[in-house]
Amino acid sequence: MARLVVVIVAVAMAAWWAVAAVEGLGINWGTQATHPLPPKAVVQLLKDNGIAKVKLFDTDFAAMSALAGSGVEVMVAIPNKDLATMASDYGNAKDWVKKNVKRFDFDGGVTIKYVAVGNEPFLKAYNGSFINITLPALQNVQNALNDAGIGDRIKATVPLNADVYESTVPSAGRFRPEIAGLMTDIVKFLAKNNAPFTVNIYPFLSLYLDEHFPINFAFFDGGSTPVNDGGIMYTNVFDANFDTLVAALKAVGHGDMPIIVGEVGWPTDGDKNARVDLAQRFYAGLLKRLAANVGTPARPNQYIEMYLFGLVDEDMKSVAPGSFERHWGVLRYDGQPKFAMDLAGQGRNTMLVPAKGIEYLPKTWCVINTNAKDVSKLGDNINFACTYADCTPLGFGSSCNGMDTNGNASYAFNAYFQAQSQKEEACNFQGLAVPTETDPTTAQCNFTIQIKSSAAAAAAPVAAGVVVAALAQLLLLW
Ligand SMILES: *[C@@H]1O[C@H](CO)[C@@H](O)[C@H](O)[C@H]1NC(C)=O
Ligand SMILES: *[C@@H]1O[C@H](CO)[C@@H](O)[C@H](O)[C@H]1NC(C)=O
Ligand SMILES: *[C@@H]1O[C@H](CO)[C@@H](O)[C@H](O)[C@H]1NC(C)=O
Ligand SMILES: *[C@@H]1O[C@H](CO)[C@@H](O)[C@H](O)[C@H]1NC(C)=O
Repeated sequence: MARLVVVIVAVAMAAWWAVAAVEGLGINWGTQATHPLPPKAVVQLLKDNGIAKVKLFDTDFAAMSALAGSGVEVMVAIPNKDLATMASDYGNAKDWVKKNVKRFDFDGGVTIKYVAVGNEPFLKAYNGSFINITLPALQNVQNALNDAGIGDRIKATVPLNADVYESTVPSAGRFRPEIAGLMTDIVKFLAKNNAPFTVNIYPFLSLYLDEHFPINFAFFDGGSTPVNDGGIMYTNVFDANFDTLVAALKAVGHGDMPIIVGEVGWPTDGDKNARVDLAQRFYAGLLKRLAANVGTPARPNQYIEMYLFGLVDEDMKSVAPGSFERHWGVLRYDGQPKFAMDLAGQGRNTMLVPAKGIEYLPKTWCVINTNAKDVSKLGDNINFACTYADCTPLGFGSSCNGMDTNGNASYAFNAYFQAQSQKEEACNFQGLAVPTETDPTTAQCNFTIQIKSSAAAAAAPVAAGVVVAALAQLLLLW
C-alpha cells in the first residue's frame, strides 16, 4: 500500500514538471490584492508552468501550507516592519526561525532555501529608517539558522535595490558612499556564511525615471548605441547594472560572491511605457539569454538565479513609486496570462498555463446612474471609490485613459464594487451608481469582475476552523 502511494506520487510529480522553465527561474508571489488567488491554485500554477522557485514577502501560513510537499524551492521573507524586532534581540530571531522556518523544514514540508531579511531596506524613500537595523537583523537571523543546524542549507540574504551602488561605467562600480561601510560589512557577513547577494534590477525604472534614457537600452535586442567600458560593449542596461554590482563586490574583496536577481520584470499598465508589447519584448529577450546561459560580460557563460516580478497584478500595492506598481503581473489579477511568453526561453509564441479552478463573482458591474438628478457630489464619490479601489488604469498613459466623465465615474464605481466583493451597498454612491448586467468594457478598457478569493473567504466565520485543520494536518506531517 505504502509502495503504491509512492508510485502514484512519483507519477504525479513527473506530470507536474512536464513543462520546464529555464533553469534557475523563479518568480515573486506577492499578495497585496483585495482578492488574492487561492494559494493552492498558485502552487498548481507554478507547477503547470515549470517554475521551480518562488519568492515570498512573508511566511503566510496558507501559502506555506500550499507549498508543503510541492518541491518548489522557496525564499521566505521578513518584512521591513519586523527588522527592528529581529535586530534588537537574538532570542526574537531564534523564535522567528523556529516558528517560520524549522516548523516547515521536514521531509514533505517546504523546501526553504533562503530567508530574505527585509525588502529593499535602503531605498532612499525610507529616509534611512532601516540603516542601523538591517545588518544586526541579518546577523541574528543567519546565526539563528546556524544554531538550529540548518544554516548550511538555508541562507539569509537582503534583497537590495540597485541604487545601493553606482558608477559611470560598470567596471567602476562602487557602493554608494553614504552606505559604503555598511554595505562592506553586509558583504563580509554574507561571504562568511556562503550566502548570496540579492539585488533587484529594473530596466523599466531606468526608463521611467529618465525621459532621455535610450529606450532600446532597456531591452536585449539591440538598437541603441552601446556603452563602451574599456573595450567591453554594453548593449543593455541589465548587464550594465549587474556588472556594476560585480565591480562593487570586487572592490570590497568579494568579486566572486554569488548574486541572485531577486526581482526583474516589466509592468503592463499605469505608465506610457508600461505596456503589454514592451513587457513581451523585455521578457522574450531576458528569457532567451537566461536559457542560453549567456551571463554578463563580467560573468560570462553562467546561469543567473532570477526571480521574475511578479506573478499577478496586485490592486492594493502602494502607488507611491508610480501607478504601474499594481500592474507587474505576468498574469492578470485572476491568473490569466496577459501576453505570449516562453519560460523555456526558446522564443516560442506560447502562453503561460493559466490558474485553474478560479471562480468569479457574478457578471454584475457597477456604473454611473445616468438618471441621477444631482451630480454635484460626483467628484467626491469618484475620489472615495479611487481611495479604496484601484483606479490606476484611468491615469495618463494607461489603458482606460481618455474616457469622458461618465466613463471615469463608471470605472471608479465598478472598481470599488468589485473590490468590495459586489456587496449591494457598495454600488450606491449617494444614488449616483447602479448595478448592471451589461458589460461596460470597451476595446481599450476592461471593466473587471473580481474573483472569489481565499482572502474574502477568510473573513467568513468558518475560516478559523479551516486554519486549525490545516495546522493539525501540518503538525501531523511533522
Ligand atoms: C521621508 O521624508 C519625507 C520628507 O521629509 C517624508 O515626506 C516621508 O514621509 C518620509 N518617509 C518615511 C518612510 O519616513
Ligand atoms: C543610526 O545610527 C547613527 C549613529 O549611531 C545615528 O546617528 C542615527 O540617528 C541612527 N539612525 C536611525 C534612523 O536610527
Ligand atoms: C478621468 O480621470 C483621469 C484620471 O483621474 C483624469 O486624468 C481625466 O481628466 C478624467 N477625465 C474626465 C473627462 O474627467
Ligand atoms: C481585457 O481583457 C481581455 C481578457 O478578458 C484581454 O484579452 C484584453 O487584452 C484586455 N484588454 C486590455 C486593454 O487590457
